[in-house]
Amino acid sequence: MIDNSIIQEIKERLDIVEVVSDFISLKKSGSNYKALSPFTSEKTPSFFVSPSKQIFKCFSTGKGGDAIEFLREVDSMTYIEAIKYLGEKYGVEINEYEIDNSVSSEKDSLLIILNKSKDFFINNLKTKEGKNIALTYFEHRVISKEMIKKFELGYSLDKWNSLYDNLKTLKYSEKLMVSAGLILEKNNKKYDRFRNRIIFPIHNISGKVIAFGARQIKDDENQPKYINSPETTLYIKSNILYGIYQSKNSIRKDDKCYLVEGYTDVISLFQIGIENVVSSSGTSLTANQIKLIGRYTKNVTILYDGDQAGINASLRGLDLILENNLNVRIVTFPENEDPDSFSKKLGKNKFLKFLSENETDLIKYKTDQLNENYKNDPIKKSELVIDIITSISKIPNSIKRSIYIKDCSDILKIDENILITEMNKLLLGSNKTLNRPQFKFKENEKNNLAVKEVDSAINFCEKECLRMLVNYGTKDFQVFGLDRKSFIEYFLNEIEDVAFENKNYIEIINIFKMELENGNVIDINYFLTQEHEDLKKDIIDLSANKYELSDKWKNKFNIHVNDEFDDLKKSTYANILRFKFRLIKKMINENLQILNSNIDYKKQQETIKIHNKLKSVEIDIAKQLGNVTSI
Ligand code: CTP
Ligand code: MN
Repeated sequence: MIDNSIIQEIKERLDIVEVVSDFISLKKSGSNYKALSPFTSEKTPSFFVSPSKQIFKCFSTGKGGDAIEFLREVDSMTYIEAIKYLGEKYGVEINEYEIDNSVSSEKDSLLIILNKSKDFFINNLKTKEGKNIALTYFEHRVISKEMIKKFELGYSLDKWNSLYDNLKTLKYSEKLMVSAGLILEKNNKKYDRFRNRIIFPIHNISGKVIAFGARQIKDDENQPKYINSPETTLYIKSNILYGIYQSKNSIRKDDKCYLVEGYTDVISLFQIGIENVVSSSGTSLTANQIKLIGRYTKNVTILYDGDQAGINASLRGLDLILENNLNVRIVTFPENEDPDSFSKKLGKNKFLKFLSENETDLIKYKTDQLNENYKNDPIKKSELVIDIITSISKIPNSIKRSIYIKDCSDILKIDENILITEMNKLLLGSNKTLNRPQFKFKENEKNNLAVKEVDSAINFCEKECLRMLVNYGTKDFQVFGLDRKSFIEYFLNEIEDVAFENKNYIEIINIFKMELENGNVIDINYFLTQEHEDLKKDIIDLSANKYELSDKWKNKFNIHVNDEFDDLKKSTYANILRFKFRLIKKMINENLQILNSNIDYKKQQETIKIHNKLKSVEIDIAKQLGNVTSI
């Protein structure tokens, strides 16, 4: 295990706003930051980061936690991997020995062996063979030393076992070598997957190698041009874009992402100083790749070779891109040119000029293309109209939709109103499914509705009480003239006679109690460790500020919401009272049920007595509540 003091040191140094900003663009919102959730393709931001609490919360998925949790969610890092990442970012040294001994999961082991192999491939460039073959190849392709370093390019020797032998001396298991996709097995013989090839490591968003692409050095029709790592738990091809680690900051800064096909295209553009570029590695874009780009920018320009296959591939992904509210443009290249060759020919300024002059909006492009191909075939043409309208209907923004409709009407020479009618049909069709009721109460559940209402009110009150505890436990204050020191003492005293129902809440309260008895006043950070995995979700949920989501409403109606802490005494007291009030109501209900059932006279009298007592407590609480809430 990594030493606890190191984890503590990292936690003290880190700033969650900085950590999250490496992955998504945050906007300031009051005392918090907000963004579109990186976990869904939402249109309005429901992802919040609180610098004061050092936590994030995604209201659309319910995910939340500290910086470590964020890294685990957003980049599928393991716990150890997240600690290592933060250690590097914040200059806290972690002993390699400790890491190697703390390998806890398959992902961790894969990362370690892949990154060791990357080092091996880089080192090969220093050998005689590497210099003769690989460095000569880089020269011939005009790939600079700087780019070789930046993209960690390497070379796999022209031998059957060089990586295998190396990993063997480093004492990695054969099983791991095979599952990492580095070593193949045939007739009980092990051999290197990559031989005599240029190695392009594929990095995850945080810069660790998760796979390799390997290009042949001499053109050989009998061999595949590229051999790639197989998919592993670490490398899911459809979730990653080549170059995203190196380019993410520029994509955010320039608010634009160029999308190219190949590894060499990314590197060539970088080499002339265009750094906001990623590659889909020769396949059409997937939903997850689009979401990945969407975290950094809404503007994507696809730079594909002039051949129809590449264009068709990008058109296939069009609806997906539109649904995610990205603005997509396309640039096609002259025959026999790709971004790699053409950027080298033109240099940075001329190349950028070429891009800006040739960027075409993708819907317009699709309309033009199809119109050109099918203008003399009315049946085909009507199909293509529906095809395009379908694409347009995916755009969430209605203004954008109407602009496109107008453009298409011009290009296709079809009345705008007809297109609008067709699109509305499509939109209504999809809405219908959305509006379908999600669930219904079963008949016998209806009768229990009153009971359910009380129960859910209790849940709510219970949650409110816990929310106060979690958020303000460490605060000092005096309650109604009494001499109490901390909020937590006051709180625990007030709830002594209250039976909470939620199992996790009871556990949380007990932990607060136990720690207080030891003289410790704890806060949410106490729970954000692996030890309290089961309570973490509740804690994060509870630590979200009551009013965080209501910004829009506040502005719309100009409502001033008091900071709840301004009036902490009152609001806590009221919350606990409300909770007690609901509990009493529940007890009254239950008691009445007993009264209505078949019971003897003696039991009846007893129950009536209880009822009267409960009623008087109810009135008492109601009065107090009235006093508190009307102050
Ligand atoms: N690709 C692949 N397997 C192949 C061919 C291509 O995985 N057999 C992927 C690679 O990610 C490659 C991309 O598709 O980068 C684009 O292919 P291509 O244009 O042929 O390769 P480039 O990377 O442009 O390589 P080069 O410029 O050296 O020809
Ligand atoms: Mn190419």
